[in-house]
Amino acid sequence: MEEEIKVLILKDVQLDAELMEYEMRREGLKFLSKRVETEKDFIRELDEFKPDVILADHSLPHFDGISALEIAKKSSSHTPFIFVSGKIGHELAVNMRKKGATDYVFKNNLIKLVPAIKRALTERDELEELMSSRNQLQEALKDKEVLIKEIHHRVKNNFMMISNLLELQSYYIKDKVDFDLFRDSKRRADSMALIHEKLYQSTDLKRIEFGEYIQDLTTDIFDTYNISPDQIKLIINVEDIMLNINTGIPLGLIINELLTNSLKYAFPDDRNGIITIIFSKTDDKFTLIIKDDGIGFPQSFDLKNTESLGLELVNNLTRQIDGVVELDYVDGTEFRITFEELKYKGNI
Ligand SMILES: Nc1ncnc2c1ncn2[C@@H]1O[C@H](COP(=O)(O)OP(=O)(O)O)[C@@H](O)[C@H]1O
Ligand SMILES: [Mg+2]
Repeated sequence: MEEEIKVLILKDVQLDAELMEYEMRREGLKFLSKRVETEKDFIRELDEFKPDVILADHSLPHFDGISALEIAKKSSSHTPFIFVSGKIGHELAVNMRKKGATDYVFKNNLIKLVPAIKRALTERDELEELMSSRNQLQEALKDKEVLIKEIHHRVKNNFMMISNLLELQSYYIKDKVDFDLFRDSKRRADSMALIHEKLYQSTDLKRIEFGEYIQDLTTDIFDTYNISPDQIKLIINVEDIMLNINTGIPLGLIINELLTNSLKYAFPDDRNGIITIIFSKTDDKFTLIIKDDGIGFPQSFDLKNTESLGLELVNNLTRQIDGVVELDYVDGTEFRITFEELKYKGNI
């Protein structure tokens, strides 16, 4: 203990304080001390003197040690508070500990005083070091969260840029089929952009509320294809399920493909119809159903051997999430995808 320490002594008897000072000097402790005996002075000196350690009696004529301890803990909770007093009962001793007293020294055994002070100051330093590294860690964590948000934001912006470029390029296309190809590609970029938008808005940063995502995605898709909700009714029945990015991106793209298909092909000649999206979870198994009551597929259709890009994508993306896709086209079209969530691998 090389540096001079400031010791605040709460004692009504001057001689008791002097005995303590004598003991500290005898042990070679470098210190500056101040004695107080009233609550008012005690509070003032906590603030002005800013002691490194407090030595207090438990009973004083107009004040008491336990109240002093409570006050000290509130204003500077790490400052060691040592009771130096005559014999006390068990109950009081327990109470002192509970309220956060650092130590207790009998006044007729002052030889223990300096070791108690040294121990208390070492503990305080260790605690403060711990607190400061904890604060540093919290700061670092906060910085990292900001960075992750920033990355999701930029990834979203990049997807939006691709989407805009595809749209701009499509203005030069005269052929309707080619134009549709660009529009479909733009939608795929949009559905991925939306995942990243949800990610930086989520407090979790790794997972998004997938039900909410489905709601927004389907609204966007209806907008892109200019579909009136009067012509095609959309029923959404999705549970509040959190999904990570490894599952969310492929599943978002699957929904995008299947819903656009229903809108494009199930209801030709301005037919009316209903599309239903159901997303639920039982135990560890997730089920996504996208169905429409439209014209359906030809009986000979084989989903596993399709050459067209959209359904090929659905097959591949389902494989990516270790899922199974089934197609039922007895009454309109029903796609059912079942999977278990992929474990987050920490790769954003
Ligand atoms: N919900 C549906 N109802 C009726 N036919 C569909 C439906 N979904 C897809 N199809 C048929 O399957 C074909 C393949 O779809 P897809 O692989 O997504 O390719 P694309 O959409 O580029 O034509 C479509 O061209 C369409 O004829
Ligand atoms: Mg398609």
